Amino acid sequence: MGHRVCAIIRCEAGGGDTSREIEAMTNDTPAKANRLSDISWADFQALSLMEKGAYFRGEPPHTLIAQQFTRPMLNELCALATRIKRINKRREGANFLKTLLHDKRAMLYFAQPSSRTYLSHNAACQILGLDTMDVRDTKTSSEVKGESPEDTIRTFSSYVDMIIMRHPVGGFAERVAWMLAHTNREIPVMNAGSGADQHPTQALLDVYTLERSFERLGGIEGKHIVFVGDLARGRTVRSLAWLLTLFEGVKLYFVAPQQLQITQDILDQLDAAGTAYEVTRDFDSVMPLADAIYMTRIQDEWDAAGEARTTDASEYHIGAEDMPRLKDHCAILHPLPRRREISTDIDDDPRAMYWRQMRNGMWIRAALILTTFGREDEAIRYYDEYQPPA
Ligand code: CP
Repeated sequence: MGHRVCAIIRCEAGGGDTSREIEAMTNDTPAKANRLSDISWADFQALSLMEKGAYFRGEPPHTLIAQQFTRPMLNELCALATRIKRINKRREGANFLKTLLHDKRAMLYFAQPSSRTYLSHNAACQILGLDTMDVRDTKTSSEVKGESPEDTIRTFSSYVDMIIMRHPVGGFAERVAWMLAHTNREIPVMNAGSGADQHPTQALLDVYTLERSFERLGGIEGKHIVFVGDLARGRTVRSLAWLLTLFEGVKLYFVAPQQLQITQDILDQLDAAGTAYEVTRDFDSVMPLADAIYMTRIQDEWDAAGEARTTDASEYHIGAEDMPRLKDHCAILHPLPRRREISTDIDDDPRAMYWRQMRNGMWIRAALILTTFGREDEAIRYYDEYQPPA
């Protein structure tokens, strides 16, 4: 992926205080890649997120955390997603795309429910010609007979060239990538949602949607982006907040009831990156400032003690009555599924981006999968040669 910018955050070990430093490597410095097979699990776990990122950019590349991405990588993925989308518009282009990875197979291992992430990864594989297999419920795999998840995944790696996985345990996708690196079947792992922790491919599609929304407004730089809802347990917000630190001058607003407010580890990352933010309960006053609003649902599947029942989130809602107060270009996003936080009566407003956002997921995931196998140049060459319509 060409030359990259890499920012390194180090978390000093020990004590309750975390101090972080950002070291920027710019211009011609390629992002460093290390080998997962060269590090023990204990040493790996002690690394900062940015340090871990260097291991995921190795060979094969894994997609596991938002912190492994640099700004140039985002630019290249977004540009590739748009090229793939345009190539796919013509029948001959769609047929060409299907040849790119027709020698590969992917496993979709979803140990948690999913509609969009599962379907869009599957569709992305189909666009590129990969065959897919899936386990969508661990009750249908031999885990039900007591096989460990690690052995289950090692089994998949005997049959496929890539694992796309969603799992309720935070960090488990990293463990899988590390474990496979210590076998003779080290294949790429793509994190399609892990615990309440990370959802890096969702963050990529969110950035792609924001980038397209602000195409004629100078891009994401300098925009005010408002996160609303269950920010404590929303893995999409956690991953996206980090990616937005890669854009100059953005300001993030975190709007939530106190019990569901963004956690300190994310604020520490923003501080280290020098990204401006505000934490508030007051959605009303922030609404008119927003260039984008990222709504989220209450994530009650993570309730330990009925937090959702005891939290009044009714004011964290957008409906037709709010639309006159929003900027004309304000992009309304939601990772979906939604409940009551966005009224269906605004679905046809041009500022409602969440349906397009969902479809963008298919294109950015196709770009990511193609890049994972190092075949992106073939799509770029085809695009440049045939210049499909915009
Ligand atoms: N946004 C998202 O992750 O949706 P699904 O849970 O339907 O995959």
